[in-house]
Amino acid sequence: MAKIHISPFLCLFFILVNVIPHSADETQPTIFILGDSTADVGTNTYLPGSKVRANFSHYGIDFPHMRPTGRFSNGFNSADFVARFFGLKRSPPPFLFLLTLKSNHFQKHLLKGVNFASAGSGLLDITGPNMSIVPLSRQISQLSTVKDNLTALIGSTATETLLSKSMFFISIGSNDIFGYFMTNSTMPRDQFIGILISAYSNHITNLYTLGARKFGIISVPPVGCCPSQRLLQKLINGVDGCFPPENDFALAFHSALDTLLVNISSQLPGFKYSLGNGYLMTMDVINNPQAHGFDNVDSACCGYGILNSEGPCNSTAPLCPDRRKYLFWDQFHPTKRAAFLAAQTLYSGPPYYVSPINFSQLAKDY
Ligand SMILES: *[C@@H]1O[C@H](CO)[C@@H](O)[C@H](O)[C@H]1NC(C)=O
Ligand SMILES: *[C@@H]1O[C@H](CO)[C@@H](O)[C@H](O)[C@H]1NC(C)=O
Ligand SMILES: *[C@@H]1O[C@H](CO)[C@@H](O)[C@H](O)[C@H]1NC(C)=O
Ligand SMILES: *[C@@H]1O[C@H](CO)[C@@H](O)[C@H](O)[C@H]1NC(C)=O
Ligand SMILES: *[C@@H]1O[C@H](CO)[C@@H](O)[C@H](O)[C@H]1NC(C)=O
Ligand SMILES: *[C@@H]1O[C@H](CO)[C@@H](O)[C@H](O)[C@H]1NC(C)=O
Ligand SMILES: *[C@@H]1O[C@H](CO)[C@@H](O)[C@H](O)[C@H]1NC(C)=O
Repeated sequence: MAKIHISPFLCLFFILVNVIPHSADETQPTIFILGDSTADVGTNTYLPGSKVRANFSHYGIDFPHMRPTGRFSNGFNSADFVARFFGLKRSPPPFLFLLTLKSNHFQKHLLKGVNFASAGSGLLDITGPNMSIVPLSRQISQLSTVKDNLTALIGSTATETLLSKSMFFISIGSNDIFGYFMTNSTMPRDQFIGILISAYSNHITNLYTLGARKFGIISVPPVGCCPSQRLLQKLINGVDGCFPPENDFALAFHSALDTLLVNISSQLPGFKYSLGNGYLMTMDVINNPQAHGFDNVDSACCGYGILNSEGPCNSTAPLCPDRRKYLFWDQFHPTKRAAFLAAQTLYSGPPYYVSPINFSQLAKDY
């Protein structure tokens, strides 16, 4: 297998299909969000020494008031759009931000949900070493603290009820796959995927034990197609296009996760889930950009050099002419429009992309 270098971060992107938008309905569940940079709304800004941050321009250029918030996007990300479909204004704030508030404000926020996602994180604790990020295991410990705080606030019965009706949105796994390639691992693919799935199984079981019942999960996109990995394909193999071995892992991950969730739902009473196929959603756009309103599905909108991906997106980087026409915002992440389309598909898409039910059904189904 080719040896490659990958910048030591995170993440990804993923996507969509055009489905008629659905307006927010009467059910407005509390939302808890876990995952990586695709769902991070500023967590790493509050982590001392974090090396994976986006709290500077041009990030946030299409966010209200053009404000960089730590989101790895030109505007809202998929966590925001999922929250919007459920009737919220945007994602709930980062847990680490809530910790900076006075206790009465902290408590008020908890009832509406919390975002724990941290850019660079993975299913495995060894993913994102020394970058000061919050791995999924620690995000779940933070949720456990939140549960204690809710219990102190509204009592244990009401807390159990609230958690059982809440939506748990999880977007993670890409950084583990990047880590595998970055460390030039020689472990066979299926063995590595087995380790990831076993970790995912433990995380889900831990969340279930804390009281979570409704899981809205998105699998990994074709990570080999993000601009940074296309650049590798060009430099290493001398050809244009996606970097195939990473996509192969992403596809295997989806299929194993699908199997895991079927199994878990047969074992844990009351467990409900919706799995978005991040691979297929993104690939269908890449294979047919115009049908989804994109002109460019290979370059970053913000960045330097070949594929705007040789240098990172920062405040002096060139910007593409029309951000709505690009699938990728930076070397790794989708644009705001791509994130919207992904969330729309998760919320109201057909079983081809999100199964066995979509997120709107998951929210209704008590
Ligand atoms: C980003 O966050 C870090 C840590 O909180 C802070 O030191 C830095 O000034 C922030 N950058 C901007 C542009 O706000
Ligand atoms: C992370 O830090 C530890 C201890 O400081 C060091 O041994 C290890 O090599 C570092 N890992 C990476 C990938 O830099
Ligand atoms: C939240 O719960 C943790 C753990 O029980 C506790 O240490 C912390 O003080 C609580 N925070 C608030 C604001 O109640
Ligand atoms: C992986 O292989 C590349 C290319 O041979 C090498 O430059 C890099 O240092 C290796 N990385 C690790 C973590 O061993
Ligand atoms: C389903 O899960 C159980 C318990 O975790 C495990 O023992 C079993 O092997 C799994 N079955 C399949 C088909 O993966
Ligand atoms: C942005 O990145 C480029 C290319 O890596 C670098 O030359 C430039 O100094 C950076 N600008 C800022 C403001 O950090
Ligand atoms: C998504 O779920 C809704 C139920 O809320 C259902 O009516 C709809 O048919 C589903 N969408 C598709 C395209 O299957």
